[in-house]
Amino acid sequence: MIPIIRPWLGPEEARAAHDAILSGWIAQGPKVREFEAAFCTATGCAHAVAVSSATTGLHLALHGLGVGPGDEVICPSLSFIATANSIRYCGATPIFADVDPVTQNLSGASIAAVLTKRTKAVLVVHQAGMPCDLADIAAALPGGVAVVEDAACAIGSTYRGAPIGSHSPLVVFSFHPRKLVTCGEGGMVAVRDGALAERLRRLRQHAMTVNDVQRHQSATFLLEQYDELGWNYRMTDIQAAVGLVQLAKLPAMTERRRALAERYTAALAGVGLVLPTDPPWGTTNYQSYCVRIPHATAASRNDILQAMLDKGVMGKRGIMAAHLEPAFAGHPHVPLPHSEAWAADSLVLPLYHEMTASDQDQVVAALQSATRGRI
Ligand SMILES: Cc1ncc(COP(=O)(O)O)c(C=O)c1O
Repeated sequence: MIPIIRPWLGPEEARAAHDAILSGWIAQGPKVREFEAAFCTATGCAHAVAVSSATTGLHLALHGLGVGPGDEVICPSLSFIATANSIRYCGATPIFADVDPVTQNLSGASIAAVLTKRTKAVLVVHQAGMPCDLADIAAALPGGVAVVEDAACAIGSTYRGAPIGSHSPLVVFSFHPRKLVTCGEGGMVAVRDGALAERLRRLRQHAMTVNDVQRHQSATFLLEQYDELGWNYRMTDIQAAVGLVQLAKLPAMTERRRALAERYTAALAGVGLVLPTDPPWGTTNYQSYCVRIPHATAASRNDILQAMLDKGVMGKRGIMAAHLEPAFAGHPHVPLPHSEAWAADSLVLPLYHEMTASDQDQVVAALQSATRGRI
């Protein structure tokens, strides 16, 4: 069976986890700080705050911006449901904007169509690693509306020649195993403002004013205080130790993904599918290689996925649309035709660092056979 993803993990990561366990620091400690510093170097962000997942990072980022009840935050429905949920966690209202038919990302025009006086922020997603056109989006926003980037999938992608993470005041990444860099579970908030980064570090541990590293390093007794409502969104040192090894591999991971994607694109050129490609303003890390099947419905796309599975290839439906899920039943939204089309007619092909040419050939053959007569 060819899986949809296989994390690129080896003895170095196992050793790092082993050493962290034996160091005595297994919860949040010095390795988390080291991982944050390495992340700043890798992405060009000013500050990095490690958290337990991108979901919790998105919640912290929006809360740190002051998003709360009565506020509207514009986001795509066409995203993993965590994007919209993080807005709900703040007591604010997700306002779904449609996506661009080519990039499956929000655009300045789609955002402008749903802006209101209550819009506090826009949560843009670099879907499947495909960078948004951030300048087009910024140009559509009135002053005072902040941009937060959901870059859960976009580590290693670039926008106008610089890594994603270096452009907006708040950018959130995921280290779930379906992403390029993984440490099991985990996330990172890239923050431009130093004071906000320090506040988010406190908020991730119940707004405690003293952290464990400070306590261990201090010769005097330190009494902590809790200045506001916070959460337990900490990353562990075991995760950070693995993350550090993974981060060092990011350039190789990105290069390999892009080479494999290029090979898919060449092999699938004549099949009649709509294939992903870099947008004019950046490069994608190909976290997912997401293809569209012209004229497909969700049912016919699912039949294709089943036919591929029967040939030993695990594909996956493309990106979900949150507004179609029962969790958002009755949630008002503008028409979202492009989001619904993408959600119905797209599928993701297996793509992972250690994929061989013969694995890829098997995927291409399975897809060709599954789509024959269906396109
Ligand atoms: C766009 C997007 N946002 C947020 C998340 C949530 O990430 P995590 O699983 O780290 O909470 C995901 C995960 O797939 C995602 O794809």
